[in-house]
Amino acid sequence: MLGQLPAITDKNVLVGTSNADDAGIYRITDEIAVVLTTDFFTPIVDDPYWFGAIAAANSLSDVWAMGGRPTVALNIAMFPSNPDLFPILQRVIQGGIDKMAEAGVSIIGGHTIKDKEPKFGYTVMGLIHPDKILDNSKAKPGDALILTKKIGTGIVSTGVKSGISSNAAIEEFTLSMATLNKRPGEIMVETGVSTATDITGFGLIGHLNEVLTASRCRARLHAGRIPFFDEAVRLVRAGTAPGGTLENVKIYSPHVAWVSDIAEYEKVLMNDAQTSGGLLIFVPGEKKEKLVAALQKENILAAHIGDVLDGPIKDDKHIIVER
Ligand code: CO
Ligand code: CO
Repeated sequence: MLGQLPAITDKNVLVGTSNADDAGIYRITDEIAVVLTTDFFTPIVDDPYWFGAIAAANSLSDVWAMGGRPTVALNIAMFPSNPDLFPILQRVIQGGIDKMAEAGVSIIGGHTIKDKEPKFGYTVMGLIHPDKILDNSKAKPGDALILTKKIGTGIVSTGVKSGISSNAAIEEFTLSMATLNKRPGEIMVETGVSTATDITGFGLIGHLNEVLTASRCRARLHAGRIPFFDEAVRLVRAGTAPGGTLENVKIYSPHVAWVSDIAEYEKVLMNDAQTSGGLLIFVPGEKKEKLVAALQKENILAAHIGDVLDGPIKDDKHIIVER
């Protein structure tokens, strides 16, 4: 949809729409640029408090994915005007307030309008040094791919809506989505990495493909090393998958060479549309151990799921998936 936006001529726009990056970036001075991003969506979990918390965690994620530090946010809300529902709406807002406080971000305003189906999220502003932007064009051959959250929230949310998922499975996926990408973002900046993105609506394959396309690189993924929610594997093997996920399979499969015996359900999982997914960090091979150790020390998942490869891209296949 952003394809029809006019070309950007302002030289202080450091990151615009051209490379499908996580956020836009505008230079204020040679030392300071602002990172801007916005995200809102319909309820992903039944509990209003956790819906608000997840919406906040999700909206902040793109700032950390660019290597930035979120500072302030504006609330965006669309709610039914029925006063009976106001206590529920207050719980949504409280979930967001608590999560923003945990992130160290101040909510400085916002806007609410009436709507039949609730929608909630934020516009977020962050800060970054103009020379330290982790945009999509900076992946390099030899980078290791490190993923910081399990994959499968889209498939699990379909199971939750159908009432076929256990409470334990719901709790695991809720906590994962509500977990901030703050510490992984800070640790990767301290370590010094090539670039990063967060895994959201286009799935693991789609977001990896965006970075590889902008960086003119290809990569190998090891299907057996990708961490999936057990519940997502169970559901997808039984035939459950959301429409957006199946759409991703169609859109991105032309860019993937499925080398070995990858099952159809694994392809669906790797394309699953995520809400508040983890960071996919591109770290130079020689710094991989240091990054993984620093993440694991704080009990953050740090799965080494593949590597950026040398050599030319053949037939527009950016991603080679092996066992
Ligand atoms: Co993103
Ligand atoms: Co976003």
